[in-house]
Amino acid sequence: MKEKVEQIKTSIEEDIKNVKTLQDIVDIKAKYIGKQGLITELTKNMKDYSIEERKEVGKIANSIKDEVTEIIAAKEKEINDAILNEKLSSEKIDVTLPGLEIKEGAPSILEKVIEDFEDVFMSMGYDVVDGPEVEEDRFNFELLNIPKGHAARDAQDTFYLKDDEILLRSQTSGVQARVMLQHEGKDPIRMICPGKTYRRDDDDATHSHQFMQIEGLLVDTEDISLCDLKGTFEEAAKKLFGNDTTTRFRPSYYQFTEPSVEMDISCFNCKGSGCHICKQTGWITVGGAGMVHPNVLNMCGYDANKWHGFAFGFGAERLAMLKYGVNDLRAFYNTDLREIKNFDRREEN
Ligand code: DAH
Repeated sequence: MKEKVEQIKTSIEEDIKNVKTLQDIVDIKAKYIGKQGLITELTKNMKDYSIEERKEVGKIANSIKDEVTEIIAAKEKEINDAILNEKLSSEKIDVTLPGLEIKEGAPSILEKVIEDFEDVFMSMGYDVVDGPEVEEDRFNFELLNIPKGHAARDAQDTFYLKDDEILLRSQTSGVQARVMLQHEGKDPIRMICPGKTYRRDDDDATHSHQFMQIEGLLVDTEDISLCDLKGTFEEAAKKLFGNDTTTRFRPSYYQFTEPSVEMDISCFNCKGSGCHICKQTGWITVGGAGMVHPNVLNMCGYDANKWHGFAFGFGAERLAMLKYGVNDLRAFYNTDLREIKNFDRREEN
């Protein structure tokens, strides 16, 4: 009996060594512990044994059954793991494949000019403020000393949204009035306001029904004069267009400033000797300015006997066109990607 058991054990060990596939396992199970398996057979002839022997045989048979079951389970797991690993390595995704190229955007040069402008004026203590594009007639015109029916309105014809009172602002100058009224004639003011403006103009290389202005206002009780305006403009021009830039004022006329001036910078291209950019004059006009008109101060709550100030306004597209050599204003507002690509000047920064 013991011999038989020993034989079975060695034969199992031998068989297990040669296992290669799951089918081999199934076969081994059948051969030893299946219905007609060798171990099962062992217990079949129990009736031939004495009670003592039966106990003995039962014990041995059960223990090799357990042993065999355990060995088979371990082998089965080993084979299953190998199959899984094989699957994992053959089906894995190669994450090192190059991805899809995403086109990268570039900062708009118009935004860039406005940001540079803000930096320069913030360094001189100015706040950057915002005003509404849908504006009331009184801010856009009346508080700026341009009453209803005034001829100056013709040049600033705009889009009216409700009767004659609500319009798309034709200039950012209305924000001057808003800020002064907010401060109720009490505090000194230094602010700039970049923003969109609208006019009923036909679009061409230098005109657009929508464009951007950068407004500026300083109000103080100190003796503010045209010299302060000139000094401020000179400082900003040097920072924005280069240290060798010089400036000049030419007399002009605006209803909300007195005196009024046009602001010119020396041509950054030819340095004043004359070229196609400055139309051979050596100078380029970049904006309008002047001393805040006493009527405007008074209407906006600032006593013109005590307070003085200056104001200025720049066309943002014009500054960007000059600085970056763009010769058609419409380029800022169409969606031609080739054109926008030309505006990518990051490498110059
Ligand atoms: N608002 C004027 C325009 O659109 C520009 C301007 C001129 C603004 C003189 C000012 C200024 O603040 O003082 O033509």
